[in-house]
Amino acid sequence: MIRVLGYNGRKVLGVTSNHMKIDFANLQYQYQLYKAEIDTAIHKVLDNSNYIMGSEVNELERNLQIFTGAKHAITCSSGTDALLLAMMALDIKPGDEIITTPFTFIATAETIKLMGAVPVFVDIDEKTYNIDSSKIEAKITEKTKAIIPVSLYGQPADMDTIVTITDRYNLKVIVDGAQSFGSTFNGITDSNLGDISTTSFFPAKPLGCFGDGGAVFTDDDTIAEKIRSLRVHGQSKRYHHKYIGMGGRMDTIQCAILDVKLKYYAQDLALRQEVAEKYTQTLQGRDLILPSIDSRATSAWAQYSIRIKNRDEVQAKLKERTIPTAIHYPIPLHMQECFSYLGYKQSNFPVTEKVCKEIISLPMNPYLSNDKIEYICKEGI
Ligand SMILES: Cc1ncc(COP(=O)(O)O)c(C=O)c1O
Repeated sequence: MIRVLGYNGRKVLGVTSNHMKIDFANLQYQYQLYKAEIDTAIHKVLDNSNYIMGSEVNELERNLQIFTGAKHAITCSSGTDALLLAMMALDIKPGDEIITTPFTFIATAETIKLMGAVPVFVDIDEKTYNIDSSKIEAKITEKTKAIIPVSLYGQPADMDTIVTITDRYNLKVIVDGAQSFGSTFNGITDSNLGDISTTSFFPAKPLGCFGDGGAVFTDDDTIAEKIRSLRVHGQSKRYHHKYIGMGGRMDTIQCAILDVKLKYYAQDLALRQEVAEKYTQTLQGRDLILPSIDSRATSAWAQYSIRIKNRDEVQAKLKERTIPTAIHYPIPLHMQECFSYLGYKQSNFPVTEKVCKEIISLPMNPYLSNDKIEYICKEGI
């Protein structure tokens, strides 16, 4: 039976049962919360049947612009395609080098390779798990064209140093904000931190649709116009193709769903922050490493990831108690088979390699109640 529970001032739907049922991202619950509005939005699209580039696409883009303050918000088919569109817009060519982190989801470096460019990895900072900005300059060569910092787990990288470096060497910055929509650095939203910023609306992301989706943000009118064209096969007008582009649009139905969820997103971010604080308060003093947020940043808390020496044992114990966890990420990108041609070796990036062995992500969603957080921390860890 689903009922509405009042919990710490938060509106929480609960399933009455003797078991402590814990969901990792709790997508079903979120749908139940906004069901009436989402169903209406979907049916409106079904009724007018404008499934591709319907008016809901423009409406969502306008609301994303307002939410982020970016001059241009361009929706696209996924966070992966958002990265591709960003690199295509910057005219990244075969042989160009792009500096990034080896501690991220494969898409960040996979898209660099798909462009024919070379991913050049830099180890991570031991506190934030983002690219170590003090090690970037040593990797810059004549061929370097751009840096792609990733805002891992929801927290932007050290953008002060990164932008100083890119200005000095005349490089471009593409922020991979797939996990960090709505986070900030020096009070600036993640979507405005690079020449181009990207995000993902994959269902489990902090702001997710009900399928694949993503967006590209920029203040540059020329880049924005090019990206809008690239996402429809480089078209300038119907059947006139200025660029080699791609089929990279976000479906109208997904835009309609996301537009409903965007209205509540500021509230979701505040709830995620509360959940993170409750975890930190409950786990403080234990023999483990808690997340560390830079004083200049706020996190979107895509994940609440801790480091613990006996990680695999802890994960097994949590599984026994049906508490879901995830490892983001067990194998660093420089050790992935698909990148063996780059010639990196074990021990090239010691911080990344250590963190990969110790990291574990605990259930994280805006609706995780305090008693569930206490149960996870007391029973499982
Ligand atoms: C850091 C990062 N970049 C890119 C992506 C790709 O996003 P999508 O799954 O929407 O293609 C993801 C998705 O998990 C991600 O975490």
